[in-house]
Amino acid sequence: MTIMKCLIERLLTRSTAAFLPRPIFSSKTDLLWKANDLVSARSHFCQPLKHSVIGVEEHGNHSHVASLASSRPCSWFHHFMRQEGSLHKLLNVSGGKNWGFAILCHGFGMSSSAVQPVSVNGRPSTKVSAVKVSADESAESKAVGAHISNVPRLSRAEVMERLKLSQETHTRNQNYLAMYSSVIGGITADPELMVIPMDDHMVHRGHGVFDTAAIMDGYLYELDQHLNRFLRSASMAKINPPFDRATIRNILIQTVGASNCKEGSLRYWLSAGPGNFLLSPTGCRCPSLYAIVIEGQAPREQIGIKVITSSIPIKSPQFAVMKSVNYLPNVLSMMEAEEKGGFTGIWLDYESYVAEGTNMNVGFVTAEKELLMPHFDKILSGCTAKRVSVLAEKLVREGILTGVRFRNVTVEEGKRANEMMLIGSGILVKSVLQWDDQVIGDGKEGPVARALLHLILEDMKAGPASVRVRVPYY
Ligand SMILES: Cc1ncc(COP(=O)(O)O)c(C=O)c1O
Repeated sequence: MTIMKCLIERLLTRSTAAFLPRPIFSSKTDLLWKANDLVSARSHFCQPLKHSVIGVEEHGNHSHVASLASSRPCSWFHHFMRQEGSLHKLLNVSGGKNWGFAILCHGFGMSSSAVQPVSVNGRPSTKVSAVKVSADESAESKAVGAHISNVPRLSRAEVMERLKLSQETHTRNQNYLAMYSSVIGGITADPELMVIPMDDHMVHRGHGVFDTAAIMDGYLYELDQHLNRFLRSASMAKINPPFDRATIRNILIQTVGASNCKEGSLRYWLSAGPGNFLLSPTGCRCPSLYAIVIEGQAPREQIGIKVITSSIPIKSPQFAVMKSVNYLPNVLSMMEAEEKGGFTGIWLDYESYVAEGTNMNVGFVTAEKELLMPHFDKILSGCTAKRVSVLAEKLVREGILTGVRFRNVTVEEGKRANEMMLIGSGILVKSVLQWDDQVIGDGKEGPVARALLHLILEDMKAGPASVRVRVPYY
């Protein structure tokens, strides 16, 4: 059974079947209506979608319709969608002759819904290709629009039920095991209740800061180092934490304990808090603390990493040194890199020196075997990069490196280095083989990067108490 068939079957039995009778159609109008039913159902049950992908399986005179994916960020499906020709790739993945796909584009309250046909294995799918509708072209779609705008008013019980359903039916590649919120003053393990108030200053004005810590073998790695940066960021963002450092630390550890997560990550936020929708935080009731435990997030595996110089401007030093929730430049830079086949974008600072990656630091090994990293005065001071610089002293003692230095690095120097690497808590240490058109070193994974990765993994598993905090599970 192909991956796609598994997906369809899962969706037919879970999400689609939850909303509709098993959808079968035999004519183009029928397809249109079934597809639109599906979208309406999803838009009523879940949050508004920008587009949905509908899969169609043909069985003699009948066809089954299933929603394959919605435009959810981070889903691998969405990644396919963003690239041109992606649906052809998808069809190749399905490998079958009997599959067709249509993209349904719509938005909440929009009066149109366009079903675009997609060919199957290079030829138009007979049933799907006949369907092409827009609000201007078809009376049917106007009726659909009217249906979508008929927004139900829900009781508390219905909201709770739908929140639960929306969690269950979302294809998510991460499991959220526990969340702490100072707004409710406790921990929940129900993903549908892991919410924050809409009027929180962090949500509508970006007035919040965050940080992370990896969980490995039941220990939190570098919790105190991340926590120090978290509180520094909060101070720069003029957010007065609702608790002192020891209490925040205790809450974070207890949240991981309650999650029972031994392998994963912890993310936490400090916000000016909920209160109103104004720009000034003076109306915010009380600063809020949120934390979430995410199960075993596998780092993005990619062999032969290429990086791209970002055309998105770097944040000014004042904002680059604090870990605020304003990551739009980082997101755009990452998207630009992905569009160009790269792993991440690399920023240069205002003087054109190498700065950092979208959510990682960079390091180089020179021809003289010196490990170089850009200063932290205009970029985020990476906890992993700092720890790597300490662990690298072992390589200096062994004669593999001649020294470790933080200083300005020019692009020319970086591109002609023996090795280039990305360093961060999400990826640990990753060798870069190409930067724009320039192959780095001999184009193979560097021995220093490999040795540093080994050292940091060892540190995570058996490092000193200053970097490993044991989690009490209960
Ligand atoms: C902009 C930026 N630079 C660098 C880093 C690496 O920091 P760390 O090693 O603490 O994960 C991150 C990660 O959060 C980041 O977002």
